[in-house]
Amino acid sequence: MKQYNVGVLGATGMVGQRFLTILDSHPWFNVTVLAASSRSAGKKYGDLVAARWLMSTPLPEKYKDMVVYDASADVAKIAAAVDFVFCAVDMKKDKIKELEYAYAKAECPVMSNNSAHRHTEDVPMIVPEINADHAKVIPSQRKRLGTKRGFVAVKSNCSLQSYVPALYPLDDVFGVEDVLVCTYQAISGAGKNFDTWPDMIDNVIPFIGGEEEKSEQEPLKIWGRVEGGKIVNAEKPRFTAQCIRVPVTDGHLAAVFVRFANKPSKDDILNAWKSFSGKAQELELPSAPKQFLHYFEEDNMPQTKLQRDLEGGMAISVGRLREDSQYDYKFVCLSHNTLRGAAGGAVLMAELLCAEGYVD
Ligand SMILES: NC(=O)c1ccc[n+]([C@@H]2O[C@H](COP(=O)([O-])OP(=O)(O)OC[C@H]3O[C@@H](n4cnc5c(N)ncnc54)[C@H](OP(=O)(O)O)[C@@H]3O)[C@@H](O)[C@H]2O)c1
Repeated sequence: MKQYNVGVLGATGMVGQRFLTILDSHPWFNVTVLAASSRSAGKKYGDLVAARWLMSTPLPEKYKDMVVYDASADVAKIAAAVDFVFCAVDMKKDKIKELEYAYAKAECPVMSNNSAHRHTEDVPMIVPEINADHAKVIPSQRKRLGTKRGFVAVKSNCSLQSYVPALYPLDDVFGVEDVLVCTYQAISGAGKNFDTWPDMIDNVIPFIGGEEEKSEQEPLKIWGRVEGGKIVNAEKPRFTAQCIRVPVTDGHLAAVFVRFANKPSKDDILNAWKSFSGKAQELELPSAPKQFLHYFEEDNMPQTKLQRDLEGGMAISVGRLREDSQYDYKFVCLSHNTLRGAAGGAVLMAELLCAEGYVD
């Protein structure tokens, strides 16, 4: 496979640090450019993160002396130096939109973690096991932007990365109609740990700004279909969500209640989960989990601390499937929010788009 030089925008942040940790030993992608805000530009990466390195593994040596670029002021320089960029900057939505378009228009594809473009109709929002075919809108987006190479592709919000994968393989045959979901989300989802957010110790906060809307609406784009160079959202399933911040470092857990058009048996569901795989497995992408959905029989599983790192934090853990008195079934599922839910999901999407020839 071809080797790609890549840049990481927002490299000093929580998700940026995850990117660097994952990409340190990646077989296709070599990080050659780090960028952040003008506050960090011109400084050595090692000095910048010395007091704010949030990962449990040490900062890889090779990044320590790299001088950080200004992600906004150095677009032309960065675009000329790399094959594509990963973007995880914390800025106002309209500024992120502008920045990502600036890279695309400089003929530098953008693999984005941000929410700014998730509802742009010709920007694919890809979970490689589910809707790899949405990449087909990239030629229309290029036409709109007037680019040959540049485009923006996004990954979805971290909250839904457990329950959408678990529900999707059940839809074709049984018709998923109504879904009620309560998520229990880690503090790294806010870019924080217990040192930087001590109020979360021994605490639960019943509000995460904008999260419930994303958890209800984004699945409909993932479920959507490509028509006339755009993604048309699905109308079903109908989702309702409550999102709660809980005192764990990493891992978003979801309690799910689901109603079907044709109620399956418990074995039907378990078999659908066991046999589910997608383009990521078919293409044997380097970051793809071998088994996407793992079902745990034990009543007290999955647990955030025990299963979040399953298959490098890229697999989904599911458990406690049982019938419900109001919905048809209920179950619990879990994914790692900064791996599958953020940096790892974006790396997997980039692997897919490279393997499928969208990044030459
Ligand atoms: N944490 C998660 O689990 C998660 C999951 C999915 C998506 N996301 C999204 O990913 C993005 C980053 O999240 P995070 O948790 O990593 O945030 P974070 O830890 O606060 O890091 C923010 C990054 O953005 C950079 N930045 C801020 N203002 C900038 C500017 N004007 N120009 C260029 N760079 C700028 C910062 O650089 P400086 O160090 O120079 O300030 C830093 O590198 C956000 O959009 C977030 O919504 C996060």
